[in-house]
Amino acid sequence: MANPFIIIVLPLILCCPLSSSSFDILSEGSSLSVETTDDILISADGTFSAGFHPIGQNAYSFAIWFNKPSCSYNCTLIWMANRDHPVNGRQSKLSLIKTGNLVLTDARHIIVWATNTYSLSPTRLKLYDSGNLVLHDFEGVKLWQSFDSPTDTLLPLQQFNKDSRLVSSRSQINYSSGFFNFYFDTDNVLCLLYDGPEVSSVYWPSPWLLRSEAGRSTYNDTRIAVLDTLGNFSSTDDFTFKSADYGSKIQRRLKLDSDGNIRLYSLSEGGEKWVVSWQAFPQPCLVHGSCGPNSICIFIPNYGRKCSCIPGHKMKKHTDWSLGCKPEFDLSCNESEAGFLKLRHSEFYGYDYGLFPNYTIEQCKNLCLQVCNCKGFQFIAIETIQPYTTYCYPKTQLWNGHREPSYTADFYLKLPKANLSAYKPVKDYKLECSPRVEQLDRTYSKSPERSPLKFVLWSASVIGGIEFFIIFLVWYFLIRTHQDSCPRGGYHLAAASFRKFVYAELEKATNGFRKEIGRGSGGIVYKGKLSDDRIAAIKRLIDANHGEAEFLAEVNTIGKLNHMNLIDLWGYCVEGKHKLLVYEYMEHGSLAENLSSKTLDWEKRFQIAVGTAKGLAYLHEECLEWILHCDIKPQNILIDSNYQPKVSDFGLSWLLNRGEVKHSKISRIRGTRGYMAPEWVFNMPITSKVDVYSYGIVLLELVTGRSPSMVVHGIDGEHVLQRTLTKWVRDQTSLTETWMEEIIDPTLEGKYDKAEMSILVKVALQCVQEDKDARPAMGEVVQMLLRLGDKQ
Ligand SMILES: *[C@@H]1O[C@H](CO)[C@@H](O)[C@H](O)[C@H]1NC(C)=O
Ligand SMILES: *[C@@H]1O[C@H](CO)[C@@H](O)[C@H](O)[C@H]1NC(C)=O
Ligand SMILES: *[C@@H]1O[C@H](CO)[C@@H](O)[C@H](O)[C@H]1NC(C)=O
Ligand SMILES: *[C@@H]1O[C@H](CO)[C@@H](O)[C@H](O)[C@H]1NC(C)=O
Ligand SMILES: *[C@@H]1O[C@H](CO)[C@@H](O)[C@H](O)[C@H]1NC(C)=O
Ligand SMILES: *[C@@H]1O[C@H](CO)[C@@H](O)[C@H](O)[C@H]1NC(C)=O
Ligand SMILES: *[C@@H]1O[C@H](CO)[C@@H](O)[C@H](O)[C@H]1NC(C)=O
Repeated sequence: MANPFIIIVLPLILCCPLSSSSFDILSEGSSLSVETTDDILISADGTFSAGFHPIGQNAYSFAIWFNKPSCSYNCTLIWMANRDHPVNGRQSKLSLIKTGNLVLTDARHIIVWATNTYSLSPTRLKLYDSGNLVLHDFEGVKLWQSFDSPTDTLLPLQQFNKDSRLVSSRSQINYSSGFFNFYFDTDNVLCLLYDGPEVSSVYWPSPWLLRSEAGRSTYNDTRIAVLDTLGNFSSTDDFTFKSADYGSKIQRRLKLDSDGNIRLYSLSEGGEKWVVSWQAFPQPCLVHGSCGPNSICIFIPNYGRKCSCIPGHKMKKHTDWSLGCKPEFDLSCNESEAGFLKLRHSEFYGYDYGLFPNYTIEQCKNLCLQVCNCKGFQFIAIETIQPYTTYCYPKTQLWNGHREPSYTADFYLKLPKANLSAYKPVKDYKLECSPRVEQLDRTYSKSPERSPLKFVLWSASVIGGIEFFIIFLVWYFLIRTHQDSCPRGGYHLAAASFRKFVYAELEKATNGFRKEIGRGSGGIVYKGKLSDDRIAAIKRLIDANHGEAEFLAEVNTIGKLNHMNLIDLWGYCVEGKHKLLVYEYMEHGSLAENLSSKTLDWEKRFQIAVGTAKGLAYLHEECLEWILHCDIKPQNILIDSNYQPKVSDFGLSWLLNRGEVKHSKISRIRGTRGYMAPEWVFNMPITSKVDVYSYGIVLLELVTGRSPSMVVHGIDGEHVLQRTLTKWVRDQTSLTETWMEEIIDPTLEGKYDKAEMSILVKVALQCVQEDKDARPAMGEVVQMLLRLGDKQ
């Protein structure tokens, strides 16, 4: 029997809370104390809390945070009143005083922060379900709101306008103001600025592009940007993006992270963790200032960036990369005492002494030697346009250094000649086939950064501004020339239209999974037509034995890999047991089909060899061996309408085997008989060289038209079996003068290019060596194949 008293009283309590028992309002004359843990405001629907949050030892900030995922010491803060002036853990208070001023006081009543508002009528402070903390007067007029002074986070419907600025925190564990800023500049364009203690520069939108080229409009001076509740961000400068999980009822926040990247985070279903659903830079090394001066930044996907000092330099402060490195040598102005060390594939952005076209390396060296404060020079040779052009950029400071294997220019560092041979070029980082899948937001260098820095901002910005203008002109010129003349660079960084699909949508697109077009690597592939009429290849994964969040993180990373020789992943679907990947559809099918139907002339074969190598080189080196394919074979190389190859099924090796990977090794043998490197069999460490081996076999197959698992006829008439395709080719090349005629695919009827054939076989044989260290890296393969192309 229910107690009649409860029946009467309970609805009263639930629907009409008295002001004293309401948790989302602080009324005039009252205060919140740092010492009472219950002194917090909680929004009506429980999403947000406002109160004192610890941000260090005995250091507190008055903040607003998400209540999910549940937290006590490191909650997801979205706003802070006093990030740069933390208060004591005793006696500190936030008080709404009778005059209408909201005041934060430290111990001994020192005022640390105040809204400086004034009202004759009674006021109240309310925390809304939107995450906005608002000070109202009696009539409900807003006197102050937290949405007007964001720290590093923007919430849905929080207007970002011409007075707003997001400032990153100093590091992941130090919440005080850092060096990265997000704001509308005087051109009405949303931009990201590195505003460091020594220099400052804008790095987004790309500084070498005109604003209009970056897709921004400078005309609308309203300067308003907002993220809507569905995950659509739009700004008056025409910048817009959509969250990967576009849709309603998802908690999101846009944050300028301490690494200078701006990311949209979505709370996963169940509210256990935040996942990245959009970010401005897939490549954090393009963020300026990230590693400080005299350092090189290297990007490792899903790990983040890695900084290292350039040769002859050491870290200024071991706990703080933003201070960079300092030289360990003294270099006099005497020209005969300096020499140069070549750093391959490296670039330092900005601080040019000038641009000197048509200089030879020697001329450029002499120029740098004569200029006392020249620290080195960037040397770029553009061979693809006629006349052959070179560019020499002596640098007076070395900032924004990054290394990227696809970057074809080199940097020459000025060092004391006496000890030149003692300096080693910056080490490459090698990773094993370990799927480092962690959440993006927890994986950047976690060094505790605590340095008392003097901000010499005014001088820095003036110098930075002037230099920036010069750099901008120079780079604009360079990049334009470079782009117009460089048909080789086939990659672009931003994933254009990667999205999540609904299962029903894919079921409809494939007509109930009717038309099977292939099977392999853990799934069946169906042909389908999407609602926007694009034809897609839809792969249904079987046995994908891992959680949804992991799957999402992995798929999102694969979706970001864009290269013209990699198959485009358009999106994915994950619903309960169903896990599907949606790829672009290739009309011409796979290399295996094309080889067996004899449709490939020599020119196409060579093009396929080069393109496949480029795709793999991108996977391996752009990503620093992060993604190994582990199953290269003609079935996984698809051919587009121009007979350009596209590598497919990359990333699946660990997408399918997350559970099995232990100690950086894949315990189960992957790959296909005939194409597998010996390491798999001998249980040796798996590196990118397994893909190089398989690629070598594919090359041999491309040249000879013989599959490695097929029986081939040896010269002595004996049948030699699988694995000995290699031996057979090797024997032929060393035994006979006419080896080309012996091994070439007979269906070509003798129509082939001897020079190309010779280099393909030479490269193939290097790739299939038993000793993995003797095989070239995929990037080197590309170079070898292209060098030949250039000579012709
Ligand atoms: C909070 O901090 C603890 C200990 O420092 C850590 O183990 C935990 O993962 C952190 N939680 C989050 C959500 O960062
Ligand atoms: C600027 O943008 C605002 C908001 O989108 C719009 O209302 C206004 O018409 C625009 N003004 C111009 C001059 O385009
Ligand atoms: C996003 O918002 C902008 C501005 O309100 C609008 O023009 C655009 O169509 C929206 N995009 C989507 C996908 O809703
Ligand atoms: C520069 O160094 C060389 C060799 O170390 C020396 O012979 C020469 O005198 C020096 N020149 C000047 C101007 O100091
Ligand atoms: C470089 O030299 C070539 C011929 O030697 C010339 O045609 C070209 O204009 C020069 N480039 C520049 C930028 O001076
Ligand atoms: C060269 O390096 C060695 C050891 O690093 C050092 O002892 C020596 O003084 C250096 N010589 C010059 C000329 O800097
Ligand atoms: C956080 O960084 C600021 C600015 O660099 C520094 O003054 C402060 O001591 C740091 N705080 C902690 C707890 O490291």
